[in-house]
Amino acid sequence: MAQQVQGVIAPGKNEPVRVETIVIPDPGPGEAVVKIQACGVCHTDLHYKQGGINDEFPFLLGHEAAGVVESVGEGVTDVAPGDFVVLNWRAVCGQCRACLRGRPWYCFDTHNAEQKMTLLDGTELSPALGIGAFAEKTLVASGQCTKVDPEVAPEVAGLLGCGVMAGIGAAINTGQVGRGDSVAVIGCGGVGDAAIAGSRLAGAAKIIAVDIDDRKLETAKKMGATHTVNSRTSDPVEAIRALTDGNGADVVIEAVGRPETYQQAFYARDLAGTVVLVGVPTPEMKLELPLLDVFGRGGSLKSSWYGDCLPSRDFPMLVDLHQQGRLDLAAFVTETIGLGDIEQAFARMHDGDVLRSVVVF
Ligand code: APR
Ligand code: ZN
Ligand code: ZN
Repeated sequence: MAQQVQGVIAPGKNEPVRVETIVIPDPGPGEAVVKIQACGVCHTDLHYKQGGINDEFPFLLGHEAAGVVESVGEGVTDVAPGDFVVLNWRAVCGQCRACLRGRPWYCFDTHNAEQKMTLLDGTELSPALGIGAFAEKTLVASGQCTKVDPEVAPEVAGLLGCGVMAGIGAAINTGQVGRGDSVAVIGCGGVGDAAIAGSRLAGAAKIIAVDIDDRKLETAKKMGATHTVNSRTSDPVEAIRALTDGNGADVVIEAVGRPETYQQAFYARDLAGTVVLVGVPTPEMKLELPLLDVFGRGGSLKSSWYGDCLPSRDFPMLVDLHQQGRLDLAAFVTETIGLGDIEQAFARMHDGDVLRSVVVF
């Protein structure tokens, strides 16, 4: 039987979000209904509301979530009712060219639920990133559910579903930060801070945090930054070089998404270093570099998509490291809020006051 629950929708471009009754169908083949326990508020939810992703309103927002599987459809064997899971927005297919070539994090045929959740009048909802977890329950593809240690707090586990995984993965998967490396992270919001935490986890010897906001640099220190640079008051490329014996960092992680910070990342790396681009630029942004600089420097330039993560490998591992006290995921939770508080949470996020507000149920 389809069931009715409360969820937060974005009804139209730039309209305030609101709590509505939504209808969740029973899970079909390959699908699962998950009772949501916690879901973080991410910039991408705000971008959906602003019409910046697509115009398929109304959206059911929320995509950084953890909860308990309530029911599963035909043929589902990977999860069962009662399992505690973190939701992911890239359930890999295992069959496309990327998957078959052993690079499933680039899968271009990721799975979502086939059936639609709706409003009471039958209007179909577009779930944010194929998840839609600012709701008491949601319908997903079973492959979007990853089992983790049920002892972890849901508001902590859910964060792995998006921004925190993107940042940690940028360091440990894409950047392959190693023991003793020097790392510079440009932009210390939630994603940059997660890259800092990931670099510490990987054993980086020097972690240089760069931001234009001193408050962010203070938080970055708590996440593991060993040095901080305010790039409003000093040239970040020179500062990073000065802190690395004139060489530049082994790995530079860009977590802003602007031409000037892409450029800084390019020049702040050691000649054989790696630049990891995590910050998402807008379509009109361009980067101009002298070809001789591109040609003349070694190393590599990589973009990182969802931290190049494999949820089945990375989510349980990071939860275990958190539970062992070796990775402080709880530090990313600034506040817990209710379903009705998301509009205010967007405002605080926009003002840079929080790392993550997390809706708890
Ligand atoms: N130089 C350095 N830091 C900057 C600059 C700049 N020119 N401009 C902004 N920043 C800092 C901000 O002060 C803030 O601390 O970058 C940080 C961005 O953080 P958030 O806005 O919280 O964004 P976050 O969620 O961390 O995401 C960062 O990664 O995944 C992508 O889409 C995401 O592009 C976004 C980026
Ligand atoms: Zn695939
Ligand atoms: Zn997100």
